Amino acid sequence: MINFTVEDQEGNRQNVEAPDDMGLSLMEVLKASEYPVLATCGGMALCATCHVEILQGQDGLGDATDAELDQLEALPEYFPSSRLACQIRISELLDGAVIKLRGEDN
Ligand code: FES
Repeated sequence: MINFTVEDQEGNRQNVEAPDDMGLSLMEVLKASEYPVLATCGGMALCATCHVEILQGQDGLGDATDAELDQLEALPEYFPSSRLACQIRISELLDGAVIKLRGEDN
């Protein structure tokens, strides 16, 4: 299991624990943890409703893919550390990260 911190739209932070051996995406774990992530496209990098900002721990995650960047650049607001949660696999790279929810409808 790995642990990371999620900050919601109100700024409340909570620790989230997730298994790193099930091939889950960060989006799936956020939904399972009852965060209001719409994930309209089901994780296809097509809707950007799973937009998150990686406040800490970005370095280990690598760069956003071209498909992610296309979606992020279409948003009214995004940040250098913005990612699509559906494109991030839960792995030890996420251990200790701090993730802020940014999806419009979160
Ligand atoms: S769930 Fe649609 S882009 Fe991530």
